[in-house]
Amino acid sequence: MRWTILLAIVVATLATARTAVAADPVLNIGHRGASGYAPEHTIPSYDLALLLGADYIEQDLQLTSDGVLVCMHDTTLDRTARGAPENCTGPVSDKTLAQIKTCDVGTWFNDANPGLARPEYVGLQIPTLEEVFMRYRRRANYYIETKTPDPADHMEEKLLALMTKYRMIRPAARRWQVLIQSFSAASLQTVHALDPSLPLIQLVVGLPASPALEVNLDAIKAYAVGVGPNFILLNANQMTAAHARCLDVHPYTVNDPTTMGTLIGMGVNGMFTNVPDQLDQVLGLLAYRGKRAGRRAARAHAACVPTA
Ligand code: G3P
Ligand code: CA
Repeated sequence: MRWTILLAIVVATLATARTAVAADPVLNIGHRGASGYAPEHTIPSYDLALLLGADYIEQDLQLTSDGVLVCMHDTTLDRTARGAPENCTGPVSDKTLAQIKTCDVGTWFNDANPGLARPEYVGLQIPTLEEVFMRYRRRANYYIETKTPDPADHMEEKLLALMTKYRMIRPAARRWQVLIQSFSAASLQTVHALDPSLPLIQLVVGLPASPALEVNLDAIKAYAVGVGPNFILLNANQMTAAHARCLDVHPYTVNDPTTMGTLIGMGVNGMFTNVPDQLDQVLGLLAYRGKRAGRRAARAHAACVPTA
Protein backbone atom coordinates (compact mmCIF):
# COMPACT_ATOMS: atom_id res chain seq x y z
CA MET A 1 0.00 0.00 0.00
CA ARG A 2 2.80 2.35 0.98
CA TRP A 3 4.46 1.61 -2.40
CA THR A 4 1.23 2.59 -4.15
CA ILE A 5 1.18 5.93 -2.35
CA LEU A 6 4.85 6.49 -3.16
CA LEU A 7 4.25 5.67 -6.82
CA ALA A 8 1.29 8.09 -6.89
CA ILE A 9 3.51 10.84 -5.45
CA VAL A 10 6.23 10.16 -8.03
CA VAL A 11 3.70 10.20 -10.90
CA ALA A 12 2.12 13.42 -9.57
CA THR A 13 5.56 15.04 -9.25
CA LEU A 14 6.54 14.03 -12.76
CA ALA A 15 3.21 15.29 -14.09
CA THR A 16 3.82 18.64 -12.38
CA ALA A 17 7.33 18.79 -13.82
CA ARG A 18 6.02 18.02 -17.31
CA THR A 19 3.42 20.74 -16.92
CA ALA A 20 6.15 23.16 -15.85
CA VAL A 21 8.30 22.25 -18.84
CA ALA A 22 5.34 22.68 -21.17
CA ALA A 23 4.64 26.18 -19.80
CA ASP A 24 5.63 29.39 -21.58
CA PRO A 25 9.39 29.81 -21.38
CA VAL A 26 11.23 32.32 -19.26
CA LEU A 27 14.02 33.43 -21.59
CA ASN A 28 17.52 33.51 -20.18
CA ILE A 29 19.19 36.50 -21.87
CA GLY A 30 22.94 36.81 -21.41
CA HIS A 31 23.40 40.55 -20.85
CA ARG A 32 26.43 41.62 -22.90
CA GLY A 33 27.21 37.87 -22.85
CA ALA A 34 28.09 36.49 -19.45
CA SER A 35 29.38 39.89 -18.41
CA GLY A 36 29.42 39.01 -14.73
CA TYR A 37 32.29 36.64 -15.46
CA ALA A 38 34.03 37.85 -18.63
CA PRO A 39 34.63 41.17 -20.42
CA GLU A 40 31.32 42.42 -21.82
CA HIS A 41 30.68 42.17 -25.56
CA THR A 42 33.62 39.94 -26.34
CA ILE A 43 33.59 36.52 -27.95
CA PRO A 44 34.62 34.80 -24.68
CA SER A 45 31.71 36.53 -22.94
CA TYR A 46 29.24 35.29 -25.57
CA ASP A 47 30.77 31.79 -25.61
CA LEU A 48 30.53 31.58 -21.84
CA ALA A 49 26.94 32.83 -21.77
CA LEU A 50 25.88 30.03 -24.12
CA LEU A 51 27.86 27.50 -22.11
CA LEU A 52 26.20 28.64 -18.88
CA GLY A 53 22.65 28.27 -20.16
CA ALA A 54 21.76 31.58 -21.80
CA ASP A 55 19.05 31.19 -24.46
CA TYR A 56 20.05 34.52 -26.02
CA ILE A 57 23.26 36.51 -26.25
CA GLU A 58 22.78 40.27 -26.18
CA GLN A 59 24.54 42.71 -28.52
CA ASP A 60 24.46 46.48 -28.04
CA LEU A 61 25.22 48.17 -31.35
CA GLN A 62 27.38 51.16 -32.16
CA LEU A 63 28.43 52.38 -35.60
CA THR A 64 32.00 53.19 -36.58
CA SER A 65 32.78 56.27 -38.69
CA ASP A 66 33.06 54.01 -41.75
CA GLY A 67 29.61 52.56 -41.11
CA VAL A 68 30.36 49.17 -39.51
CA LEU A 69 28.10 47.77 -36.78
CA VAL A 70 30.18 46.84 -33.73
CA CYS A 71 29.14 45.29 -30.43
CA MET A 72 29.75 47.80 -27.71
CA HIS A 73 27.56 49.23 -24.97
CA ASP A 74 28.91 52.74 -24.48
CA THR A 75 28.90 55.43 -27.15
CA THR A 76 32.48 56.20 -26.12
CA LEU A 77 35.49 53.91 -25.87
CA ASP A 78 36.94 55.23 -22.65
CA ARG A 79 35.45 52.86 -20.06
CA THR A 80 36.30 49.51 -21.64
CA ALA A 81 38.92 50.13 -24.36
CA ARG A 82 42.65 50.42 -23.82
CA GLY A 83 45.23 51.37 -26.42
CA ALA A 84 46.48 54.37 -28.32
CA PRO A 85 44.37 57.37 -27.22
CA GLU A 86 43.80 58.50 -30.80
CA ASN A 87 42.15 55.11 -31.51
CA CYS A 88 40.73 54.04 -28.16
CA THR A 89 39.25 57.12 -26.49
CA GLY A 90 36.28 59.26 -27.43
CA PRO A 91 33.15 58.40 -29.42
CA VAL A 92 33.02 55.12 -31.34
CA SER A 93 31.34 57.04 -34.14
CA ASP A 94 34.53 59.10 -34.66
CA LYS A 95 36.72 56.02 -35.29
CA THR A 96 37.12 53.73 -38.25
CA LEU A 97 36.83 49.99 -37.79
CA ALA A 98 40.60 49.72 -38.30
CA GLN A 99 41.16 52.11 -35.39
CA ILE A 100 38.62 50.31 -33.16
CA LYS A 101 40.27 46.98 -33.90
CA THR A 102 43.54 48.17 -32.32
CA CYS A 103 41.83 48.52 -28.92
CA ASP A 104 41.99 45.98 -26.09
CA VAL A 105 38.65 45.45 -24.31
CA GLY A 106 39.79 42.75 -21.88
CA THR A 107 42.35 44.51 -19.73
CA TRP A 108 39.87 46.86 -18.04
CA PHE A 109 37.91 43.79 -16.86
CA ASN A 110 41.01 42.14 -15.38
CA ASP A 111 41.89 45.37 -13.59
CA ALA A 112 38.33 45.83 -12.27
CA ASN A 113 37.82 42.17 -11.30
CA PRO A 114 41.07 40.68 -9.97
CA GLY A 115 39.25 37.54 -8.81
CA LEU A 116 37.95 36.84 -12.32
CA ALA A 117 40.99 38.09 -14.27
CA ARG A 118 42.42 35.80 -16.95
CA PRO A 119 45.53 36.35 -19.06
CA GLU A 120 43.63 35.40 -22.22
CA TYR A 121 41.32 38.40 -21.79
CA VAL A 122 44.22 40.77 -22.46
CA GLY A 123 44.09 41.99 -26.05
CA LEU A 124 40.50 40.98 -26.79
CA GLN A 125 39.00 42.97 -29.66
CA ILE A 126 35.63 44.64 -30.10
CA PRO A 127 33.64 42.25 -32.33
CA THR A 128 31.66 43.43 -35.31
CA LEU A 129 28.10 42.15 -35.49
CA GLU A 130 29.08 40.31 -38.66
CA GLU A 131 31.85 38.47 -36.80
CA VAL A 132 29.32 37.44 -34.17
CA PHE A 133 26.89 36.16 -36.84
CA MET A 134 29.75 34.34 -38.58
CA ARG A 135 30.80 32.64 -35.37
CA TYR A 136 27.42 31.40 -34.14
CA ARG A 137 25.37 31.44 -37.37
CA ARG A 138 21.97 30.00 -36.57
CA ARG A 139 23.20 28.01 -33.59
CA ALA A 140 22.52 30.92 -31.22
CA ASN A 141 19.68 33.31 -30.55
CA TYR A 142 20.56 37.01 -30.64
CA TYR A 143 18.99 39.88 -28.68
CA ILE A 144 20.22 42.99 -30.49
CA GLU A 145 19.87 46.58 -29.29
CA THR A 146 19.98 49.58 -31.59
CA LYS A 147 21.81 51.94 -29.25
CA THR A 148 21.31 55.73 -29.57
CA PRO A 149 20.58 55.49 -33.28
CA ASP A 150 20.79 58.60 -35.41
CA PRO A 151 18.34 58.29 -38.34
CA ALA A 152 21.06 59.64 -40.63
CA ASP A 153 23.28 56.63 -39.81
CA HIS A 154 20.72 54.08 -41.03
CA MET A 155 21.65 51.65 -38.28
CA GLU A 156 18.38 49.78 -38.74
CA GLU A 157 18.90 49.28 -42.48
CA LYS A 158 22.43 48.05 -41.84
CA LEU A 159 21.19 45.63 -39.21
CA LEU A 160 18.50 44.22 -41.50
CA ALA A 161 20.98 43.97 -44.38
CA LEU A 162 23.27 41.88 -42.20
CA MET A 163 20.39 39.73 -41.01
CA THR A 164 19.41 39.21 -44.64
CA LYS A 165 22.98 38.26 -45.60
CA TYR A 166 23.11 35.66 -42.81
CA ARG A 167 19.55 34.45 -43.48
CA MET A 168 18.25 35.50 -40.10
CA ILE A 169 15.08 37.31 -41.17
CA ARG A 170 12.82 34.30 -41.46
CA PRO A 171 14.12 32.54 -38.32
CA ALA A 172 13.71 35.83 -36.45
CA ALA A 173 10.11 36.18 -37.56
CA ARG A 174 9.19 32.55 -37.10
CA ARG A 175 11.04 31.46 -34.01
CA TRP A 176 12.48 34.63 -32.53
CA GLN A 177 16.06 33.71 -33.38
CA VAL A 178 16.72 37.44 -33.33
CA LEU A 179 14.88 39.84 -31.05
CA ILE A 180 15.52 43.52 -31.73
CA GLN A 181 15.34 45.90 -28.76
CA SER A 182 15.72 49.62 -28.31
CA PHE A 183 14.93 52.45 -25.92
CA SER A 184 14.14 54.42 -29.07
CA ALA A 185 10.55 53.92 -30.23
CA ALA A 186 11.50 55.68 -33.47
CA SER A 187 14.23 53.12 -34.14
CA LEU A 188 11.87 50.19 -33.54
CA GLN A 189 9.20 51.82 -35.69
CA THR A 190 11.77 52.17 -38.46
CA VAL A 191 12.54 48.45 -38.23
CA HIS A 192 8.82 47.69 -38.14
CA ALA A 193 8.27 49.76 -41.28
CA LEU A 194 11.13 47.96 -43.03
CA ASP A 195 9.87 44.52 -42.02
CA PRO A 196 6.75 44.16 -39.86
CA SER A 197 7.42 40.44 -39.34
CA LEU A 198 10.40 41.07 -37.05
CA PRO A 199 9.86 40.69 -33.29
CA LEU A 200 10.70 43.89 -31.42
CA ILE A 201 11.07 44.73 -27.74
CA GLN A 202 10.49 48.26 -26.49
CA LEU A 203 12.95 49.03 -23.70
CA VAL A 204 11.74 51.44 -21.05
CA VAL A 205 13.31 52.67 -17.86
CA GLY A 206 9.95 52.34 -16.16
CA LEU A 207 6.36 52.00 -17.25
CA PRO A 208 3.96 54.68 -16.01
CA ALA A 209 1.00 54.15 -13.66
CA SER A 210 -2.56 53.81 -14.97
CA PRO A 211 -4.15 55.31 -16.99
CA ALA A 212 -1.00 56.43 -18.85
CA LEU A 213 0.18 52.80 -18.62
CA GLU A 214 -2.62 51.50 -20.82
CA VAL A 215 -2.14 54.29 -23.38
CA ASN A 216 1.59 53.62 -23.46
CA LEU A 217 1.22 49.84 -23.87
CA ASP A 218 -1.46 50.25 -26.56
CA ALA A 219 1.01 52.35 -28.54
CA ILE A 220 3.84 49.83 -28.05
CA LYS A 221 1.77 46.82 -29.08
CA ALA A 222 1.28 48.40 -32.52
CA TYR A 223 4.87 47.52 -33.41
CA ALA A 224 6.43 45.39 -30.65
CA VAL A 225 5.97 41.93 -29.15
CA GLY A 226 7.16 42.94 -25.72
CA VAL A 227 8.57 45.45 -23.29
CA GLY A 228 11.87 45.50 -21.41
CA PRO A 229 11.61 47.55 -18.21
CA ASN A 230 14.14 48.04 -15.44
CA PHE A 231 13.18 45.26 -13.00
CA ILE A 232 13.37 47.63 -10.03
CA LEU A 233 10.43 49.66 -11.34
CA LEU A 234 8.26 46.74 -12.48
CA ASN A 235 5.03 45.97 -10.62
CA ALA A 236 2.20 43.45 -10.87
CA ASN A 237 -0.27 45.93 -12.38
CA GLN A 238 2.14 46.68 -15.23
CA MET A 239 2.71 42.95 -15.79
CA THR A 240 -1.03 42.31 -16.01
CA ALA A 241 -1.60 45.23 -18.36
CA ALA A 242 1.26 44.12 -20.64
CA HIS A 243 0.06 40.52 -20.76
CA ALA A 244 -3.51 41.65 -21.43
CA ARG A 245 -2.11 43.14 -24.65
CA CYS A 246 -0.03 40.05 -25.48
CA LEU A 247 3.16 41.96 -24.75
CA ASP A 248 5.94 39.82 -23.27
CA VAL A 249 7.87 41.31 -20.36
CA HIS A 250 11.69 40.97 -20.26
CA PRO A 251 13.11 43.06 -17.39
CA TYR A 252 16.78 44.06 -17.14
CA THR A 253 19.27 43.40 -15.48
CA VAL A 254 18.73 40.80 -12.80
CA ASN A 255 21.74 39.26 -11.10
CA ASP A 256 20.37 38.07 -7.79
CA PRO A 257 18.68 34.63 -7.53
CA THR A 258 16.07 35.79 -5.03
CA THR A 259 14.93 38.59 -7.35
CA MET A 260 14.98 36.18 -10.29
CA GLY A 261 12.60 33.90 -8.38
CA THR A 262 10.32 36.80 -7.45
CA LEU A 263 10.12 37.98 -11.06
CA ILE A 264 9.41 34.47 -12.33
CA GLY A 265 6.61 34.27 -9.76
CA MET A 266 5.23 37.55 -11.11
CA GLY A 267 5.06 35.98 -14.57
CA VAL A 268 7.88 37.61 -16.54
CA ASN A 269 8.64 36.00 -19.90
CA GLY A 270 12.40 36.35 -19.63
CA MET A 271 15.09 38.53 -18.15
CA PHE A 272 18.51 39.94 -18.87
CA THR A 273 21.24 38.73 -16.56
CA ASN A 274 25.03 39.01 -16.29
CA VAL A 275 25.04 35.57 -14.63
CA PRO A 276 23.04 33.19 -16.85
CA ASP A 277 24.13 30.13 -14.86
CA GLN A 278 22.34 31.50 -11.81
CA LEU A 279 19.13 32.11 -13.73
CA ASP A 280 19.44 28.63 -15.23
CA GLN A 281 19.67 27.22 -11.72
CA VAL A 282 16.69 29.22 -10.48
CA LEU A 283 14.63 28.11 -13.49
CA GLY A 284 15.51 24.45 -12.95
CA LEU A 285 12.97 22.34 -14.80
CA LEU A 286 11.44 25.49 -16.28
CA ALA A 287 14.61 26.15 -18.27
CA TYR A 288 14.39 25.60 -22.00
CA ARG A 289 17.47 25.52 -24.15
CA GLY A 290 18.47 27.99 -26.81
CA LYS A 291 16.54 27.67 -30.02
CA ARG A 292 13.77 25.71 -28.35
CA ALA A 293 13.22 28.59 -25.94
CA GLY A 294 12.89 31.12 -28.76
CA ARG A 295 10.56 28.87 -30.73
CA ARG A 296 8.32 28.29 -27.71
CA ALA A 297 8.24 31.99 -26.87
CA ALA A 298 7.30 32.87 -30.44
CA ARG A 299 4.59 30.22 -30.43
CA ALA A 300 3.16 31.39 -27.10
CA HIS A 301 3.07 34.97 -28.34
CA ALA A 302 1.39 33.97 -31.60
CA ALA A 303 -1.22 31.99 -29.67
CA CYS A 304 -2.02 35.06 -27.57
CA VAL A 305 -2.36 37.56 -30.41
CA PRO A 306 -5.88 37.46 -31.91
CA THR A 307 -5.86 36.59 -35.60
CA ALA A 308 -7.24 39.26 -37.91
O1 G3P B 1 18.95 45.97 -23.21
C1 G3P B 1 18.54 45.69 -21.92
C2 G3P B 1 19.51 46.36 -21.05
O2 G3P B 1 20.75 45.99 -21.55
C3 G3P B 1 19.34 47.84 -21.13
O3 G3P B 1 20.34 48.47 -20.46
O4 G3P B 1 22.18 50.02 -20.62
O5 G3P B 1 22.64 47.60 -20.32
O6 G3P B 1 21.85 48.44 -22.50
P1 G3P B 1 21.81 48.63 -21.01
CA1 CA C 1 21.45 46.53 -23.81
